Amino acid sequence: MTKINSKNIVDLIEDIFLRRGAESYLGEQVTMAQHMLQAAQCAEESGADNEQIVAALLHDIGHYKNEIPESALAKGINNFHEEAGANFLEDFFPASVVEPIRHHVAAKRYLCAVRLDYFERLSPASIHTLNLQGGPMTDKEIREFEKNQYLNQCINLRYWDDEAKDPNRKNPPFSYYKPLLESLVS
Ligand SMILES: [Fe+2]
Repeated sequence: MTKINSKNIVDLIEDIFLRRGAESYLGEQVTMAQHMLQAAQCAEESGADNEQIVAALLHDIGHYKNEIPESALAKGINNFHEEAGANFLEDFFPASVVEPIRHHVAAKRYLCAVRLDYFERLSPASIHTLNLQGGPMTDKEIREFEKNQYLNQCINLRYWDDEAKDPNRKNPPFSYYKPLLESLVS
């Protein structure tokens, strides 16, 4: 595997999108690429800042586990997709991008516990994984989660994630977001 650095990380991510974007997304009506591109589009349409748009664009990159270098996977405890993705990206992108990605599944468990109307937004596949992910948070978990400095960004990302599953929606190609990604690499 090519050594990843700040100069080639965006090309590498683009390559993953182009080579593997057409793969299906866990029982949803959209492909993986459509899902992540639509999430970024939802963020942009909501007037989100660049970090949030990029977080939405990359939030499920951890599903491509065999594209992620061993060194990043070695940092993880369970390497669920949100952790694997965040550990992969944290060497190149700011915490404001990486932390919402790390917590986007926790945010679903959080919202299921604190917002009564949230559960209705979930797709059948997402309800199924909710149960595997531990179900709604307990009160103790809620209190812990609310200490997160990026709480609002985590919640926003979660809503875009849930919205980005529309097979009829037209979304921009990856190349549209490439300059934005490049501007945030450090
Ligand atoms: Fe997602």
